[in-house]
Amino acid sequence: MITGSQNTDYARGLEGVVAAETRIGFVDGINGRLVYRGYNIEELAESSTFEEVSYLLLYGKLPTKSEFTNFTSKLNADNQINDQLFKILQECTKSSHPMSALRTAVSYLGAMDKNSNKFDLAAQEAMGLKLMGKFPSIVAAINRAQQGKPIIRSTEPNYTARFLEESFGKKPTEFETKVFRTALILHADHGMNASTFASMVTISTLSDMYSAVTSAIASLKGPLHGGANEQALDMLERIGTPKNADKVIAEMLEKKEKIMGFGHRVYKVYDPRAKILKGYAKKLAEDKGHTELFETAEEVEKVMINKLGTKGIFPNVDFYSGIVYKSLGFDPTLFTPIFALSRISGWFARSFEYLHDNRLFRPRSMYKGEVGPLKYIPIADRR
Ligand code: ACO
Repeated sequence: MITGSQNTDYARGLEGVVAAETRIGFVDGINGRLVYRGYNIEELAESSTFEEVSYLLLYGKLPTKSEFTNFTSKLNADNQINDQLFKILQECTKSSHPMSALRTAVSYLGAMDKNSNKFDLAAQEAMGLKLMGKFPSIVAAINRAQQGKPIIRSTEPNYTARFLEESFGKKPTEFETKVFRTALILHADHGMNASTFASMVTISTLSDMYSAVTSAIASLKGPLHGGANEQALDMLERIGTPKNADKVIAEMLEKKEKIMGFGHRVYKVYDPRAKILKGYAKKLAEDKGHTELFETAEEVEKVMINKLGTKGIFPNVDFYSGIVYKSLGFDPTLFTPIFALSRISGWFARSFEYLHDNRLFRPRSMYKGEVGPLKYIPIADRR
């Protein structure tokens, strides 16, 4: 067979390829730092709110009081979903994973928005704000639909508190709101990861913001990206108790299985987001009086660092986030939609930034097939 060859550099999975400039966020994988617009993630997680961080990512600076009010009133101007969409979500959650329902919801909202065929910057910004404002209600409605419960519509203006109230039908405590808000801040942006890249590829064709977010959700669904915390929690529950950790992990590694919640394409040290979530996972476990899961996780961490730390394998954000969400009362299948509830902020900011100096993404693949030219044989003569 003659194979095609092109004289071109090849980076499998685009690893290490720099394909865009950004001022939004910086992942320092060597020193374990995550920076949004110059601010360390630890500083923002401690002091800021999710809305403020979203403003920062989108517009490049922390808002003044009036800019903040203006921003949140745009987010809240039309922040509920209609009965028709709730019915669709009830149907979707009967048969498929909540991420499929979320993908459908965003696509539906795009199809219903008359402005989604306007592609100028102002229209894209308006679509992004409208969609982001609805996200707490969409994800909470998916949670309700999945449990066969009616939708709850809250007038609470705060993104985090509204989501928790519409999910559980009661006002969250201050501590629950703080923990959840921190988790949202930590997941808001993270370089050109697969879902962010997917949103940018879509917007680079001058498509619309709903389509960009739909693409992002589709790629966040997979277990190598957003789906890892669901599987990490499942593994911890199977291990069950700290004393089983060493044996189970050794067996999994022996079978060349990947341990979910460990390793990262960029971080080769402890993921700074995991450090913060670990503290909250511990506090929640103590508050709720069930510490065994957390203790099992700590033991798994010790075993893994012992075995693979020298290869740069440490806990990533997904290792402790599952324990946090479970302690707050969420079903594991909702973990990835919760990730999206936060990451919409990064998808929107990065797609919007890219549009300001747009260039269609169009990489190439290395052709390894037949170059021919082969002669066409009619079907009747083929053997
Ligand atoms: N469990 C066991 N071994 C691992 C793990 C893991 N979780 N991660 C990496 N390794 C191994 C690799 O197999 C490789 O071994 P080798 O040297 O024998 O070939 C070595 O460690 C180095 O791996 P990397 O090249 O650094 O890993 P890569 O960049 O290819 O993969 C990835 C990164 C996909 C995240 C991987 O670590 C993984 O699959 N982790 C589990 C899934 C997960 O937690 N995903 C969430 C990531 S964070 C997020 O998306 C929000």
